[in-house]
Amino acid sequence: QCDLQGLWRNELGSNMTILAMNTAGTFSGSYHTAVAATKKQILVSPLQGVQQHPSTKRHPTFSFTVQWQFSDSTTAFVGQCFVDHHGKETLETMWLLREEVLSHKDTWKATRVGTSTFTRIK
Ligand code: BTN
Repeated sequence: QCDLQGLWRNELGSNMTILAMNTAGTFSGSYHTAVAATKKQILVSPLQGVQQHPSTKRHPTFSFTVQWQFSDSTTAFVGQCFVDHHGKETLETMWLLREEVLSHKDTWKATRVGTSTFTRIK
């Protein structure tokens, strides 16, 4: 079983804490990004997520959003938790970062996309 709860780090050096999940599969936590698209000072930001079929799945899918406390952007992550033969867990994710643009005409450049792998650090 892959457990989302804990402290995770991705390839950028960002750290995230996922707190205990409830029986419905929803969870909260915090995200400390190592990088930002804005020049503002980075602040630890809350995340809210949901896991599919909590407890019955070995490699569950999940999604979460981060409400950045220092930026007008928002980020949505989708992913899946994997455990290897040694019991090492990784979260394989993709994310969309939507930036606030001042004009509808700028919507074409408002979204960034990427992949991210998280490994457990605690
Ligand atoms: C912003 O720059 O407006 C908010 C911070 C965005 C950080 C992004 S989210 C996707 C990527 N993965 C990270 O760990 N940080 C960046």
